[in-house]
Amino acid sequence: MDTGQTGTPRPGESDHPHLSGGAGTDPDDQSGGFTIWLTGLSGTGKSTIASILETRLRGRGLKVEVLDGDVVRTNLTQGLGFSKQDRETNVRRVAWVCALLSRNDVVAIAAVISPYRSGRDEARHRIGRFVEIHMDAPLHVLEERDVKGLYRRARAGEIPDFTGVTDDYEPPLDPELTCLSDGGEAPDVSADRILAKLHALGYLTSA
Ligand code: ADX
Repeated sequence: MDTGQTGTPRPGESDHPHLSGGAGTDPDDQSGGFTIWLTGLSGTGKSTIASILETRLRGRGLKVEVLDGDVVRTNLTQGLGFSKQDRETNVRRVAWVCALLSRNDVVAIAAVISPYRSGRDEARHRIGRFVEIHMDAPLHVLEERDVKGLYRRARAGEIPDFTGVTDDYEPPLDPELTCLSDGGEAPDVSADRILAKLHALGYLTSA
């Protein structure tokens, strides 16, 4: 949870160990690229926020690519299901592409449930310039909202291993920012807060 304190690591000052090799980016590099990693349960507004951020960042002249779970799963990770192993593979592939984009001056926005801490931490280490945003909402709010009708189907036993219902979600312990998407904060306001955080972390020249 963001506390507005000054202890948040800035680019190049990350307190998260950086692994070398692979497609990783160096947090000390001069690339303008970085990755915004939106994690959270289905229905927390990851795609909506990604889309708002995409528009706002493009408006600043930045190159932006969105990797949205529902879209990625129709191409890059087509054929993968929702077992623990398949989710890990899905998240690892998304992180790989984000690393390539980030080191080539592109702002990559990942909008994937990415339910396991280990997978997100691996992505952080691989990418380096990485900003984790937890899209958070109480399960009962998501179930009432149920835009895609998936929670009802999961409760009815029609979708196995559904995150938050019959499969685990491990919330981030130390994300750069948490956005409450329980109806109390409009998506535009969440996007404003994310941009302000990117500015505070040194990724953007102005909020
Ligand atoms: S992840 O767990 O591998 O990160 P990802 O973000 O790509 O998930 O895909 C999540 C989307 O897949 C959800 O928004 C939902 O539309 C759909 N989906 C289908 N089955 C499941 C399931 N068992 N658990 C979660 N989401 C599911």
